[in-house]
This record gives sequence, C-alpha cells and structure tokens, in this order.
Amino acid sequence: MSEQDVAISVRDLRKSFARPDGTEIQVLKGVTVDVLRGETLIIMGGSGCGKSTFLNCLIGEYEISGGEILYQTKKMEAPRDIGKMDEANLNELRMSIGILFQSGALFNSMTVADNVALPLIEHSYVDQSIIDIVVTLKLQQVKMLAHRDKMPSHLSGGQKKRAGLARATALDPEILFYDEPSAGLDPVTSAAIDELMMDLSKKLHVTTVVVTHEMDSAFRIADRMVMLEQGRVLRIGTRQDFETIRDADPRDMTTQDDQLIHQFLNGASSGPLTDAEGMTEFEKLIRADG
Ligand SMILES: Nc1ncnc2c1ncn2[C@@H]1O[C@H](COP(=O)(O)OP(=O)(O)OP(=O)(O)O)[C@@H](O)[C@H]1O
Ligand SMILES: [Mg+2]
Repeated sequence: MSEQDVAISVRDLRKSFARPDGTEIQVLKGVTVDVLRGETLIIMGGSGCGKSTFLNCLIGEYEISGGEILYQTKKMEAPRDIGKMDEANLNELRMSIGILFQSGALFNSMTVADNVALPLIEHSYVDQSIIDIVVTLKLQQVKMLAHRDKMPSHLSGGQKKRAGLARATALDPEILFYDEPSAGLDPVTSAAIDELMMDLSKKLHVTTVVVTHEMDSAFRIADRMVMLEQGRVLRIGTRQDFETIRDADPRDMTTQDDQLIHQFLNGASSGPLTDAEGMTEFEKLIRADG
C-alpha cells in the first residue's frame, strides 16, 4: 500500500484526563489505526471504551498525551502531525474535514439555512449570493430544502441529523467524521440516515470515520471496522471479517477475543464481556462490596 492511500495514520495514540484529585485516568492506551482514503471506517466498542475520545483526538479537539496523528490531505505535500500544526495549518485542515457530533449540535438560535451557512462564513471569503447557492445545494442533497427557514427546535430527530449532515458537508470535505449518527432514531429513520451517509460518501468521494454502537447500522455502511476495548484496539478488519465472527458458533471459537467480539456484535447478555456466570462488571462490584 502506498502512502497515498492513507488519509489518517494514527500511531500509538494515548490520551489521559486529569481527575479532580490530581491522579490520571488513561482512556486511550496506544491505539494504532490507518484510515484509508475513500473508505468508511467504523469505530465500535462498549460504552465508555473511548470512542468519542478517539474521535475528539482525531479532529484536534483534544490535545493528545502521546503518539501521533498524521494527516495526508490532497493539499499537503507530505503527511503532517496534527499535534505539530500551527493555527494556520489547523485552519486549513479544518476546512478539509466535516463533523457530525453525537448530539447533532445545531445552533438553536439559528435557522436551518444559517446553520448550514456557518462553516462557509467561518472558513471562506465568498459573498452572500454564493453562500445562498451552496446552502440550497447542500439542503437539496439531504432533502431538507423545504425546511430551510425553520428553527432546529421545530425539527424531528431525523431532520436534525439531515441538517447536521448538510452543515458537515458544506465545505465539500475530504474526510467526514460522525459520532453516533443514528443514536436516538427509530430503525426506519436510522436506516434512511445510513443510506444518505453512504450516498454522500460515494457522491463526494469522502473518507468517512463513524463511531457507533448500533450494529445494524455499522454492518450496512462499513468497509472496515475497528473494535476498541478499554482504550485498546481489540480487532481491526474488513466488514466481512467481522461478519464471519458475528455469524460463527461461539463453541467453535478458539480465542477469548473472538468470543468477546461475537458477544458484542450479537448483543448477547452472557459471554466473556459479562464473564462465565453472566455477571456484568457492575454486578461484580456490587457483590464484592456486599
Ligand atoms: N473530558 C473528559 N474528562 C475526563 N474524563 C473523560 C472526558 N471525556 C471522556 N472521559 C472519560 O473517558 C472514558 C471514555 O469516554 P468516551 O466518551 O470516549 O466513551 P465512548 O466510548 O464514546 O462511550 P459512549 O458509547 O457511552 O458514547 C470514560 O470513562 C469517560 O468518563
Ligand atoms: Mg461516545
């Protein structure tokens, strides 16, 4: 594989947070992943394993505690470490990426159209008539043009996500990041959002990184998948690799990792994730206390 094929190279990424008492909580404990140009990569794993933290490190929102995050956008002559970029470099990078956060995160005091226009105003110097044209196009792409003058509080969950998508793609990004795009949506709306994401990724030829624990959704959109477990990469593979584990009989599995991945993908309540007796970590704590 040539360097050209890698959009983001994450090497031994570590991230700790300081607790109020001064001690540290290590959330990412050395994550190494390549995001390939044009692929849709799913980041999955149990609640609290570090998915959102990983995404926030990738987009430069968190200062990292160790390792490297090397970006190679079309504008860059050579891969560049996000931790070593100055404000000008960072701004340039921010123009090449689009982000849809866990909550959708529209500004409630602005109309849908103004929300979509915001990145255009922030990052470029085009005049109002151009902005209007781009906003119209982006809202058309997500079938939200009819709602352009509404306030976010008057939209359904699915409509908010669509508007968020229009905003995330406003600058025609090379790389799109999504945190839980289908969280809180019913299965039909969720499938429609997945389809829209895949459609946009193909049309715009974007590299897409999606954090999710919705397995139906993950298997619909993934090219490759990464499973995180307590701040480490448990497995990285193609969608087919994970489908094989999901559909296998756990009795035929030789490793604990495979059993754990199988349990996670199938949402089963007993297995190594919950231990042999079917107790969760929480239940074990309670019993140990009592
Ligand atoms: N800003 C922060 N300060 C301190 N601790 C944090 C911070 N952000 C996250 N954490 C801790 O890091 C761990 C991982 O959190 P993170 O939000 O990355 O999990 P997640 O995998 O996205 O979970 P979920 O599926 O519930 O969204 C948690 O223990 C959390 O409490
Ligand atoms: Mg999260």
